[in-house]
Amino acid sequence: MRVLVITGAGVSAESGIPTFRGKDGYWRNLDPAKLATPEAFARDPNLVWDWYRERRQRIRKAQPNPAHRAIANLALQADEFLLVTQNVDDLHLRAGLPAEKMVQIHGDIFMTRCSRCEFRRYEHEQEQDGGSLPKCPECGALMRPGVVWFGEQLDLRKIGTVENFVTGGDCDLVIVAGTSALFGYIIDWALRARGQAGQLIEVNPEETSLSQFATKSFREPAGVALARLVNELLGNANRRAPTH
Ligand code: OAD
Repeated sequence: MRVLVITGAGVSAESGIPTFRGKDGYWRNLDPAKLATPEAFARDPNLVWDWYRERRQRIRKAQPNPAHRAIANLALQADEFLLVTQNVDDLHLRAGLPAEKMVQIHGDIFMTRCSRCEFRRYEHEQEQDGGSLPKCPECGALMRPGVVWFGEQLDLRKIGTVENFVTGGDCDLVIVAGTSALFGYIIDWALRARGQAGQLIEVNPEETSLSQFATKSFREPAGVALARLVNELLGNANRRAPTH
């Protein structure tokens, strides 16, 4: 089986991490989608850093849920596999998904990078809350979260990895789970990867702009639907396997 899985914030919702656009997504009455922008950082870097520090802390304390585990299981069993996640948390990795089978297309929340030069560092350890604004040790400019914000370019190397997989052969199965699928490239990769004959399964309690293209939709939480789906897939694959 050749499998592409695309995930968004809904897959981590059952681990207690708020989505961007859901009713629980609001933080201090602020719209997260409006905080994840270069404009918000230029206007009020303290506010944006507070939001990221709190999200980092929540992610450190969170545990992978059955959706993350099901995807990791599928990754280990499929012949060819790639996960494209829009999530900046590390829950897919902590569920056992090999790093080389995953692209975090919007970056990694634990990366901090200079807003001017190339300096970056990984900060997984707990930081001081409400600390002063971090400055680059190389050039003195403001450091910022090393994630992709609205209106910013995606990492070209990461696009290359996804494109290689999408153009490397049609997928038997494409699963899109827990994303409002608002970005054109997400829909484009899902449809192109599926080719003429593959299945496109959407897992989302709500309808999205991708739903019309899905061959099957599960209107359920990801932890429920993905655990069942992967069990079924792997059970069927084992039954078909030749025996001695
Ligand atoms: P959104 O917050 O836009 O969408 C979350 C989706 O998850 C919604 O469609 C929900 O219906 C669905 N959902 C909620 N709970 C779920 C559950 N338990 N199981 C399955 N689905 C569930 O988050 P994303 O689509 O990930 O980008 O947002 C995409 C990007 O927009 C983010 O990566 C971020 C944001 O701006 C950047 O910051 C660049």
